[in-house]
Amino acid sequence: MKTRVLTGITTTGTPHLGNYVGAIRPAVAASKRDDVDAFYFMADYHALIKSDDPARIERSRLEIAATWLAAGLDPQKVTFYRQSDIPEIPELTWFLTCVTAKGLLNRAHAYKASVDKNTDAGEDADAGIPAGLYMYPVLMAADILAFNANKVPVGRDQIQHIEMARDIAQRFNHIYGREFFALPEVVIEEQVATLPGLDGRKMSKSYDHTIPLFSGGQKHLRESIMRIVTDSRLPGEAKDPDSSSLFTIFRAFASENESTAFRQALIDGLGWGEAKQVLFERLEVEVAPMRESYDALIARPAVIEEILQEGAKKARAIAAPKVAELRDAIGLRSGVSVAPQANAPKAAAKGGKAARFASFRDADGSFRFRLFSSEGEELLLSRSFADPKAAGVMQKRIKELGSVAAVVQVQPQSLGLELDGEAGGATPDFESEQARDEALLRLRGALDQLAAQE
Ligand code: TRP
Repeated sequence: MKTRVLTGITTTGTPHLGNYVGAIRPAVAASKRDDVDAFYFMADYHALIKSDDPARIERSRLEIAATWLAAGLDPQKVTFYRQSDIPEIPELTWFLTCVTAKGLLNRAHAYKASVDKNTDAGEDADAGIPAGLYMYPVLMAADILAFNANKVPVGRDQIQHIEMARDIAQRFNHIYGREFFALPEVVIEEQVATLPGLDGRKMSKSYDHTIPLFSGGQKHLRESIMRIVTDSRLPGEAKDPDSSSLFTIFRAFASENESTAFRQALIDGLGWGEAKQVLFERLEVEVAPMRESYDALIARPAVIEEILQEGAKKARAIAAPKVAELRDAIGLRSGVSVAPQANAPKAAAKGGKAARFASFRDADGSFRFRLFSSEGEELLLSRSFADPKAAGVMQKRIKELGSVAAVVQVQPQSLGLELDGEAGGATPDFESEQARDEALLRLRGALDQLAAQE
């Protein structure tokens, strides 16, 4: 079985070297593994909480998409999409909001930090805090749960959000009485390097000290490297590689051997200016070919758009049946599905046709049955039973079930009927989601007819 790995990238800002080494490169590498089914997406709804500058949001979405593709992400293998192209995510967000304890959200670090800041400044606790910031963890839970992701690689600052997603999932499962959601696990990549920025503090877009990965081109990369803060040791004086940002960045790109050689050169007195040139040239070996693809992609936004639309299609093929199943489970059903309950007894009493079972023996000798609607449509094919009695018991259980108690699994092209967590049977495949959803109503109608029969 493949592990479904999912992560989101907030689309504010321009990717820098720290993002590349800490997130993009390991994620692209993980996506190539055969045992991984990767879902990577641009969290542009989340970005709205952090930025109200439309031009910045637009630019960042484009740059981030181009960056991931240029870094080697294969959109054929990975499901790569924009959060805002998946309407099921906000819909699920609401379902989850309704089961999320407000107290849980009160305890979110990011929200609490904003409250503390206000309180310290003598302001009202919630001054200037958008409700979006407050709801951030629920939206994030929906991102993850819509796809039943198993593993979520994130930075340390996001651990609490994954814990909250588990909490919310558990609560939903508990309330609606079934394992609708797999519980996601956080993955913290311990191996990957955290790069220092120009001033030696951790490279982060919150400080103005990053080294951009592609933007500004080769020239800007070189200029940024030349601005990395060093100590004042002169050429010829021994440098301490372990306290040097230059060396830390170099090591994140180079092999063991190269790093050992660079370390020695610094100890032997290599001047900082020359050392920066060495770093620049080593970075270029990895960055230059990617920059070329990046520039080509940025010049053709329509190509990126098409890739993302394809990605959204793939993602929705999973999220849409999931949300349809949830709608059904929580009672957001078409009014039509309730009506047959009232009509069924009459229809049967008039001697008219009613839903019925037909048992048969399969080619392999096992026992099965079909459920037909009053119109003669095949609604369900049971699983096979070795024992005809067991098949009979299952028929009886289905007969007594009624539509309200029926647990229906919605698959992309079909429906499954579950009894006590066990598969009872499935519908044939349908041509479209609409056909499937219409069949769901007929299935429910038939179940009510059966339940109304003596
Ligand atoms: N909040 C995450 C961050 O800032 C981005 C994100 C949004 C995310 N949705 C997600 C990460 C779902 C993992 C899974 O880094």
